[in-house]
Amino acid sequence: MRVLVVGGGAREHAIVWKLAGERAVTDVLCAPGNPGIAEVARCVPADPARPSALLEVVRREQVDLTVVGPELPLSMGLADLFAAEGHAIVGPTKAAAALEWSKAFAKAFMDRHRVPTARFEVCGSPDAAQAAIASGKFGYPLVLKADGLAAGKGVVIADDQASAADAVRSAMAERRFGAAGDRLVLEEFLVGEEASYFVLADGTAFVPLGSAQDHKRIFDGDRGPNTGGMGAFAPAPRLTREVERRVLDEIVRPVLDGMAREGTPFRGFLYVGLMLTPDGPKVVEFNVRFGDPEAQVVLPRLDEDLSWLLGATATGALPSRPARFRAEPHVGVVLASAGYPETVEAGKAIGGIQAAARVPGALVFHAGTRQQDGQLVTAGGRVLTVVGRGASYQEAIDVAYRAAAHIRFEGMQFRSDIGQKALNT
Ligand code: AMP
Ligand code: GLY
Repeated sequence: MRVLVVGGGAREHAIVWKLAGERAVTDVLCAPGNPGIAEVARCVPADPARPSALLEVVRREQVDLTVVGPELPLSMGLADLFAAEGHAIVGPTKAAAALEWSKAFAKAFMDRHRVPTARFEVCGSPDAAQAAIASGKFGYPLVLKADGLAAGKGVVIADDQASAADAVRSAMAERRFGAAGDRLVLEEFLVGEEASYFVLADGTAFVPLGSAQDHKRIFDGDRGPNTGGMGAFAPAPRLTREVERRVLDEIVRPVLDGMAREGTPFRGFLYVGLMLTPDGPKVVEFNVRFGDPEAQVVLPRLDEDLSWLLGATATGALPSRPARFRAEPHVGVVLASAGYPETVEAGKAIGGIQAAARVPGALVFHAGTRQQDGQLVTAGGRVLTVVGRGASYQEAIDVAYRAAAHIRFEGMQFRSDIGQKALNT
C-alpha cells in the first residue's frame, strides 16, 4: 500500500513514523513533510492548502490511500474532491468538517442531538451579541468564540461585561479574526479538567483511540497565552472507564449517528475536546482531525497496524471494537522557539537530536525544522516534540525530559511541568 500523509508537523511525523514500520505499507509519501519526516518517508513539495496539487500527487504517484493531518484542506473540500475522483482518503467531507470549521454549526448540532455542552447563543450581529451580554444570562466568566477557523486564537474568556463588550467590538467591528468572527458563539464557562478523546470513524462504525491531555498555555502551571499545545500525555487518568462509557454513550455515538442521519456521515479522526465537569463530560470543541501534540503520544501506544485501521476507515469497513494499546503511558514535551505563540525568529541551529533519540524509550518528532546549508535549523513556533515512554507516568516524564535535555537551539522554550497533572490524579 502506498500512503500519502498530508501535512508537515510533528503530528504528521508521528503518523508517518507509525506507518513506515508496518508490513502492509510499501511506501510513505508526505506533502510537504519536514526533515524529520524525510528520514522515514519521501517528501513531496505540495501545498496542503491546494487540493488540486494534492490530487496531482496522488495521480502521479499512484497513491492508494491519503491521510490528512491538518483541518484546513478538509475545510476546503479535499475529501469531496478525492471521493469524486475515486481516491481513498481518511478525512471528512467539507460538510462533515463543519463540526470544526463552524462552532455555530457544532453547537446547534449538539443542541439538536442532545449532546452535553455549555449553554450557548449564536450571535450574527454586534447588536445581537451586545444584547446577549447585557442580559447576563450566562454569568461570568463568559466565553466568546469566533465561529470560524482562527488557528486556536478565536476564544476569549471575559471576566466582566466591559471586557465581553470589548471582545465583541474587536471580533465584529475591527474583525480581529477576519470573516471567522462575523458570527460569535457566546457560552457559559465550564468548570473542570480538560481532556481529549479520539475515535476513528468510517461514517457509521468507529474505533475508540483512547484519551490524552494537552497543555495549551505557554507557561508552567497553565499560565500565559494559549498555544497550539505545549505537551501532552496519554492516556488521561481522569478519563476513567466510567467516564469513557459516558463519553461514548452520551457524545460519540449520538454525534456519529446524528451526522449520518443528517446526510453528512463523519469519516476520519474525530477529536472530542472535553471538560470533565461535576455533571459529567461536556464537549468544549470538536476537531475533525487528530490532535497535535496528542497524536505524538497516542500513536506510539497503538499496538496494531494503523495502516489497516486507516484503510478500513476509508472503505467503510471498520470493526466496532477498541483499538489495541500498550499499557505504558507516554508523555510528549514540545520544544518551541523564542516568542511563540507570537512572532518567532527562525533559522536557529538545532543540535542534540540524535543523542535525544538514543535515550531508551524516547522518540523525537519534527515540526518547525528545515535544512539550511547542511545544518538543521528552526523554521517555526513549535520545533520538536520529544516523547518519553515508561512503566509509570513519572518514568515517562523522566525519559522525555532526559531526552529533551540533549537538544539545544537559541531561545528554546518548553514547559517543565508536562505530565504533572497525571501524577496528581
Ligand atoms: P476551543 O477552541 O473551543 O477549544 O477553546 C479553547 C480553549 O478555551 C479550551 O481549550 C478551553 O481551555 C477554553 N474554553 C473553551 N470553551 C470553554 C468553556 N465553555 N468553558 C471553559 N473554558 C472554555
Ligand atoms: N492540541 C490541540 C489541537 O490539536 O487542536
